[in-house]
Amino acid sequence: MCGIVGFTGKLQAGPILLDGLSKLEYRGYDSAGVAVRDGSEDPVVVKAKGRLSVLSAKIDGGTAIPGTCGIGHTRWATHGEPTEQNAHPHVSEDFLVVGVHNGIIENYQELKEKLIGNGYTFYSETDTEVAVKLIDYYYKKYKVGPIDALAKTMVRVRGSYALAVMFRDYPGEIYAARKDSPLILGVSEEGCFLASDVPAILKYTRNVCYIDNLEMARLTADKFEVYDLNGDVVRKPVKEITWDAEAAEKGGFRHFMLKEIHEQPHAVEATVNSAVKPAAQAEGLEAAPEKVRENADELLEIDLSACGLTEEIVKTVSSIWMIACGSAYHVGLAASYVIEDLAQIPVRCELASEFRYRKLMPGPETMAVIISQSGETADTLAALRKAKSLGIRTLAIVNVVGSSIAREADHVFYTLAGPEIAVATTKAYSAQLAACDILAMYFAKVRGTIGAERLQELLQEIRKVPGKIEKVLEDKERIQWFASKFAHMNDAFLIGRGLDSAVCMEGSLKIKEISYIHSEAYAAGELKHGTISLVEPGTLAIGVATQPAIYEKTLSNMVELKSRGAYLMGLTVYGHYAMEDTAAFTVYVPKTDPLFTANLAVIPLQLLGYYLAVNRGEDVDKPRNLAKSVTVE
Ligand code: F6R
Repeated sequence: MCGIVGFTGKLQAGPILLDGLSKLEYRGYDSAGVAVRDGSEDPVVVKAKGRLSVLSAKIDGGTAIPGTCGIGHTRWATHGEPTEQNAHPHVSEDFLVVGVHNGIIENYQELKEKLIGNGYTFYSETDTEVAVKLIDYYYKKYKVGPIDALAKTMVRVRGSYALAVMFRDYPGEIYAARKDSPLILGVSEEGCFLASDVPAILKYTRNVCYIDNLEMARLTADKFEVYDLNGDVVRKPVKEITWDAEAAEKGGFRHFMLKEIHEQPHAVEATVNSAVKPAAQAEGLEAAPEKVRENADELLEIDLSACGLTEEIVKTVSSIWMIACGSAYHVGLAASYVIEDLAQIPVRCELASEFRYRKLMPGPETMAVIISQSGETADTLAALRKAKSLGIRTLAIVNVVGSSIAREADHVFYTLAGPEIAVATTKAYSAQLAACDILAMYFAKVRGTIGAERLQELLQEIRKVPGKIEKVLEDKERIQWFASKFAHMNDAFLIGRGLDSAVCMEGSLKIKEISYIHSEAYAAGELKHGTISLVEPGTLAIGVATQPAIYEKTLSNMVELKSRGAYLMGLTVYGHYAMEDTAAFTVYVPKTDPLFTANLAVIPLQLLGYYLAVNRGEDVDKPRNLAKSVTVE
């Protein structure tokens, strides 16, 4: 968690740091700070509790602190409350070292005691101040320069970190170090940049380089160098970011979340098109019989060559573990129904935070599917590493290119959702679900559990999903109206069976995390085993019933709630009009294959969460206590 930015070059650093931090505020927003140096002067450090705007007002948008070299930080508190004192940057006593940090130093207490024994004193409760003073200690003790002092610190600390540091003796230079927290470097004619994430520097450069674990960097006005722990220079490729900078801006929408909800047709379409192609384009079809090639325009194929998941590999897999956190875990839950149905392969879903400490016995042919938008979630990354240590094959479904999970997994299926800024995920969720659907179809095809005709039918249908999401979005005013009626409520219950229960889990999270209305998702048949006692006259209950085989069953469970006074909202597929006899308010989604209804049914629930939060005046894009990328355990 937390966002860090650094710049050294020809321009004033203050405004660049604030601009970069504003793009990283999704990573944490309880306090912020910058340190800017003017030539060889000591850095000026300014910090503020609260949103970035408070800091910006204090330093006139960055112009009040002259200097062309600086570092900045936006914080999501871990060690120590969100106060100005605990905000970064942190400094050593004589300003010899000034630093910002993202991550957690696990052995900071032990290190703090060691430093106290060596005469150091501490003004904050943070682990970062300990890290900064440890660097100061090694720098003074060994007198071997910044890279060596950093390397010695890295060997001594346990935990995760992305560190950006300035040394008083090295004006115009920034030093960085990384382990398990993201950090990228950028270069342009104006100078060099570092940041926790690409959007922070996209306005200034598209040429970036990813620092790997246990690597360090030195940035000067015209270049950067990366070093390994021995202090040897590591050659790094500079990659060009191809996204549109607009993609990381609000583009006329009131909130990023609403913009991203509307980007879902495109996110799903791009992800589907990356793997579902007209047969002629798919690898290997050059050798297909002429008749097949003649019809190639109508035929579709799955092409997963980009992630290296060959048919031979798939044939060896006999069970799947889906591992993720939060909404990505809900994708795994939904996908488990689709994969088991189509590919007839056992799927187990695990929360990454549980998986990493659980004793599990994979079969030799178990494959772990790791799902993550950011590719940096600490628990998910640890779970990936655990899966690898168990010797099983790993496939990551990831949105952020070059992220840690993407780099460490055996195979990567990139979702093409583009940058997601709102803390509550929407378009990444939808793109992940589409990727899982494709995976399910691919496994089914290779394992021979569905025939060629059914495969074509499903492939044609998945390509229609983006258009159908568009249709659901056209109905958003009804949801907006409904949300305005229910914005005052305290509780909501969502019920559904099978695939619908997974949709309920995600819908419930969307409602509670941004509107702060308590909501719970239940398998429809389970509510009567206890939780139904919470239902009172007027309680909102949302029944999701899109699966024809179990539609009637869910309806019966909805009736049970209605007879206890619940106000019912129904969510089903066009054609199931009997829902209106039971529910007071019904939302329909277009017909699709029942296995793909989750991709549509989630949209009204995202909209409901969004409009409830707007009606209650909550900060939709930055809900309290949360951060976009959870890089701590
Ligand atoms: C909720 C949400 C989170 C994330 C979770 C995993 O709206 O966004 O629950 O899904 O923190 O994050 P990633 O996908 O980055 O690993």
